[in-house]
Amino acid sequence: MGAKIISGTETAKAIREELKLEIDELRAKHNVVPGLVTILVGDDPASQSYVAAKNKTAHALGIHSEQVTLPAGTSEEELLELVGKFNDDPKIHGILIQLPLPRHINEAKVLYAIDPDKDVDGFHPVNVGKMMLGEQCFLPCTPHGVLELLMRAGVETSGAEVVVIGRSNIVGKPVANLMLQKRPGGNATVTLCHTRTKDMDFHTKRADILIVAAGVANMIKGDQVKEGVVVIDVGVNRIGTTESGKAKLAGDVEFDSVRDKAAAITPVPGGVGPMTITMLMKNTVQSARQHAGLV
Ligand SMILES: NC(=O)c1ccc[n+]([C@@H]2O[C@H](COP(=O)([O-])OP(=O)(O)OC[C@H]3O[C@@H](n4cnc5c(N)ncnc54)[C@H](OP(=O)(O)O)[C@@H]3O)[C@@H](O)[C@H]2O)c1
Repeated sequence: MGAKIISGTETAKAIREELKLEIDELRAKHNVVPGLVTILVGDDPASQSYVAAKNKTAHALGIHSEQVTLPAGTSEEELLELVGKFNDDPKIHGILIQLPLPRHINEAKVLYAIDPDKDVDGFHPVNVGKMMLGEQCFLPCTPHGVLELLMRAGVETSGAEVVVIGRSNIVGKPVANLMLQKRPGGNATVTLCHTRTKDMDFHTKRADILIVAAGVANMIKGDQVKEGVVVIDVGVNRIGTTESGKAKLAGDVEFDSVRDKAAAITPVPGGVGPMTITMLMKNTVQSARQHAGLV
């Protein structure tokens, strides 16, 4: 009953306010306006709404944002050419390719064509490698958001038993990596679970911090966690539609039963989700600073 709710909505709002001040100062003092381009190929409704939300947030913060929407039949060559154009565009500091891309386009080839210094999604192997080495780089947005949520909620990670469920390249693996880095927000003892893990409950029950990114609605229940655990639920699962026709969402964690035992927990929606877009904005501002020689 007494679990603290770690609100991503509130935390994201606070970070955006900080960013807005930073952007205003960059413009006023250095004549620098951070620039972001989002590239969407095809007409997938979910991707359209993600891209629209990113542009809306960028605009509200005073970031110069461009949106390019290409037909589903766009060739790989055309897309690579466009990426090259934005790599060379001094107004643009961040290039985001909305995934997934249509099947005929090699996703890795396109992502790897982005200048690593403009890779604000943090997916380029140069940034992934630097993250692994603990060097300054663009951190992937969702794992970075998880880290910020924990730090700003005052959760001690040093020496904590952190269990991550899910080993994807965009969430599970990078979040596990960030939690074990030798710096504030890291220094944890990390266990990474996946579908081949033999005894999931053994791991979840000893977690001080449990981060779930499996994409399975309500898979973690109250009897699988210990008293006092801190739970970060990354999962976003559509489990139906509300009366008003909106998608009904559930996390990977059964909120009510886990909340009864947890010290703190993120809700879905309103947890990790709002942090992801905010970290994209943070990376874009960081990139603009770097390009202007202000770091
Ligand atoms: N809030 C946000 O901003 C945000 C951002 C990104 C993703 N998400 C959400 O986070 C969730 C995960 O996303 P993703 O892209 O990482 O998914 P993904 O690529 O499908 O990876 C899921 C991972 O979870 C593991 N897994 C699946 N079912 C499992 C089970 N029953 N037991 C143990 N492990 C299991 C898989 O193991 P194997 O490797 O063995 O298959 C895989 O490693 C999704 O719900 C997604 O919508 C949210």
